[in-house]
Amino acid sequence: MNFLEFAKKYDTPLYVYDFNHFEKQYNELKQAFKARKSIIAYAIKANSNLSVIKKFASLGSGADCVSIGEVKRALLAGVDKYKIIFSGVGKRDDEIKEALDKDILMLNVESEAELKRIDEIAKSMNKEARISIRVNPDIDPKTHPYISTGLSENKFGVDIESAKKMYIYAKKSKNLNPIGIHFHIGSQLTELNPIKEASEIVANLVRSLKAINIDIKFFDIGGGLGIKYKDEDTIKPYDYAQAILSTLSGLDVTIICEPGRFLVGNGGWFLTKVLYEKINGDKRFVIVDGAMNDLIRPSLYNAYHKVEVISSVKNPQISKANIVGPVCESGDFFAKDIEVPQTNPGDLIVIHSAGAYGFTMSSNYNTRPRPCEIAIEDGKDRVIRRRETFEDLIACEIDYLI
Ligand code: LLP
Repeated sequence: MNFLEFAKKYDTPLYVYDFNHFEKQYNELKQAFKARKSIIAYAIKANSNLSVIKKFASLGSGADCVSIGEVKRALLAGVDKYKIIFSGVGKRDDEIKEALDKDILMLNVESEAELKRIDEIAKSMNKEARISIRVNPDIDPKTHPYISTGLSENKFGVDIESAKKMYIYAKKSKNLNPIGIHFHIGSQLTELNPIKEASEIVANLVRSLKAINIDIKFFDIGGGLGIKYKDEDTIKPYDYAQAILSTLSGLDVTIICEPGRFLVGNGGWFLTKVLYEKINGDKRFVIVDGAMNDLIRPSLYNAYHKVEVISSVKNPQISKANIVGPVCESGDFFAKDIEVPQTNPGDLIVIHSAGAYGFTMSSNYNTRPRPCEIAIEDGKDRVIRRRETFEDLIACEIDYLI
């Protein structure tokens, strides 16, 4: 990757994505499940740029969506409607209606109250809603508490007994068709055992449903495959698939897998330039033109992202520094107390593994326009989202004109 050239051509802050990496990751995962029918449903929340979704759609990917906005993005980017799943703990009536109208594969239900609401809405539209139920297997995924979702203390899904009751209710309803089952225990998972345990629990539920004539066709294992940010031992797609498959004997189901981070995380970089250096007391700060509004993971989760400093200083001295942005928050940093060579204003800093939950979690805090995004594919670069302007930021605020 010629980061210096991209920074010069497109300016900074800038997101750079390697579409060939995305493809490689997709193919590796798809291949791992080849023993069964499978749908890789890209979790759009990780990186929702339409060109990114289109890339996955062209490879045959489905989409895991958590708002009607994401469903619309998926359709717009060319994802097959029968490969789109709509999940989320709080769907509004209008979102449910629109999802039924658009005839996507299924709505993933997260509570009894929601199941009844979908039933009513489907009835009023004279439709049959295809659904899956998100089961909370109460398994500790051993990841960051903010991204762990499969414990009973988390807000996601329903316990096994409630799920069973909901399936029976759905089976009886004329307007509900229970075709799937779903679990997702957390994100950035690096241990296989919790996933296998969860899959076993949910597969057993499928077996007991089969015994009462409820035939589950889609076994949705969620997302969560972790990536290397630093030196994590990650799960290999092959081992992941084998672990899941080993729990499914005797069941004729299509596996749905909803990876986000695994597909895009390590194929993205955030580029930012040095503005100044300063010393406060005995602390050295390197101040850059990107900030927490562009990439919030370090501030929000204290997440590690490798920081590469391309210094233009000849034989630079190296000392500890914090890399910080211009936003008016002490929590606005990309790295703390890391060894950084002396820099000149304009020197480039590359923040690695920024392809997932980077741009999608960005904001306009401090009235900062969001960065430009570019794609690199087969050695060619192109803009897939232009840099925002001040005019974009104020476009919805018209009252002051009156
Ligand atoms: N399926 C469901 C139901 C999910 O809730 C998620 C992520 C995924 C799939 C995709 O998970 P992945 O394969 O990307 O791990 N903002 C956090 C991550 C939040 C993940 C939320 N759910 C971060 O920056 O680490």
